[in-house]
Amino acid sequence: MRRPPLGSVRLIHGDARKLNGIASGTVHLVVTSPPYPMIPQWDGLFRALGATDYPGMLRVLADAWAECQRVLVPGGILAVNIGDALRSADGEFRLWPNPAETFVSATRLGLVPLPYILWKKPTNRPNAFLGSGFLPPNAYVTLDCEYVLLFRKGKLRRFPTHDAARLASRFSREERDRWFSQVWTDIRGARQDSPRGRSAAFPPELAERLVRMFSVEGDTVLDPFAGTGTTLWAASRWGRDAIGVEWDRGAYGALEASALARGFTLSARARGPKGMKARVGRGVRSPRPRRA
Ligand SMILES: C[S@@+](CC[C@H](N)C(=O)[O-])C[C@H]1O[C@@H](n2cnc3c(N)ncnc32)[C@H](O)[C@@H]1O
Repeated sequence: MRRPPLGSVRLIHGDARKLNGIASGTVHLVVTSPPYPMIPQWDGLFRALGATDYPGMLRVLADAWAECQRVLVPGGILAVNIGDALRSADGEFRLWPNPAETFVSATRLGLVPLPYILWKKPTNRPNAFLGSGFLPPNAYVTLDCEYVLLFRKGKLRRFPTHDAARLASRFSREERDRWFSQVWTDIRGARQDSPRGRSAAFPPELAERLVRMFSVEGDTVLDPFAGTGTTLWAASRWGRDAIGVEWDRGAYGALEASALARGFTLSARARGPKGMKARVGRGVRSPRPRRA
């Protein structure tokens, strides 16, 4: 298969709610997965961002979607991987509908909602049911799907006839049939180990697929919640320039490790505490990250 030259990668230590250093209307695609509200792993981080309850956590995400909208070009796409949470509050076990809340808040901002994807994760524990076992009615359905919500900024993006970058980015009929079906069952979970513990990384295939579905070669792809940099790797690998924003200094170890493992060349500046810049040597193939 033909592979384009690798795209550049820029890492920014910053806050997804204020994408300083990224000009308005310069990003063609956002592929991201935020910290999920009401998942205990992210409680401390939300607290540090000033959010101590569910509405506050949702506000953090809504502010980030507003910034995504600002930096997107007209017709640019926002793809958000997010899942529901299950957790007790005030003695009551319940679902916290993160995808539904995201859908509403992004739509309220004026982003155009598009048909979404349900990513059904193969589980290692098919018999892990919650609730009252074999007795009705108090057993719970297992949450084994996450969402990839899709939004567009305004009207369709337009291209000149026979646009070379767009033609070079085409996918095959088999890829189209598989990728544009609503339920994805063919993508396994990602490795979760990282220098800061559980990384919450999504699988490389997920990022690669979204990059190829919703951008063309030479575009700029942003992940405002960069984590281990999976989106950046996927974008660069498919000839898109990538920008990643990460707030947690502790995540730099993970980012740096994964960036190096993926063949990004980090400049001296990349190791500093403020602005990280990773350059991918053009023409150098970055190795594929290992899967779970
Ligand atoms: C679910 S993880 C993303 C994982 C990523 N998709 C990957 O494959 O590695 C969310 C990331 O967002 C970061 N984060 C949380 N709040 C942030 C904010 N306000 N600005 C930027 N990054 C933030 C967290 O530190 C975490 O690394």
